[in-house]
Amino acid sequence: MDENKRDTYQRLRREVVELLDGTTDSVTAMASCAAVLHDGLAAASWTGFYRVVAPELLRIGPYQGPVGCLEIPFDRGVCGAAARERTSQVVEDVHAFPGHIACDSRTLSEIVVPVFDARGELVAVLDIDSHQPAAFDDVDRQELEELVTILSSHFSSGQEPQPVAPVSSSPHAPEQVTEQVTESS
Ligand code: SME
Repeated sequence: MDENKRDTYQRLRREVVELLDGTTDSVTAMASCAAVLHDGLAAASWTGFYRVVAPELLRIGPYQGPVGCLEIPFDRGVCGAAARERTSQVVEDVHAFPGHIACDSRTLSEIVVPVFDARGELVAVLDIDSHQPAAFDDVDRQELEELVTILSSHFSSGQEPQPVAPVSSSPHAPEQVTEQVTESS
């Protein structure tokens, strides 16, 4: 089982490496990576990036799947936990995760992996959600951590996701994100 999963990741990694050859634009790199992973991972229902755009604030980046929340503070959700703790989060049951943000009520499990630049600064997180329970495990964590290291090597200096002013009002602004937060029971 894990053998097959490793093979899948090896193939997807090769695809990403080939696609990103010569790319130094972080948006191009993240968009291509999200597309390859979303298409290649059968369990994925949402695949994409949240970028660090201000202290303690994530904003949505390139993604595949249904509309996601626009902004996530570091103290919210699985993405916030991965950013705050600078470690991958493998969540078998999102309903058991305190502060999980339900952008898609069908999501049952997810994995979030931090993305660091060459200086070790957190620049984004990779979020993959699934409608299946416990869809991700430690093999996914290892493989995705390796993949985002390859990805971030394509963020040339000055092309990393850059801090910009927070969005103040929009259909998915932080106020609404907060309303969507489901506290665990
Ligand atoms: N599941 C994430 C929120 C982002 S979306 O689901 C696209 C979280 O709790 O961090």
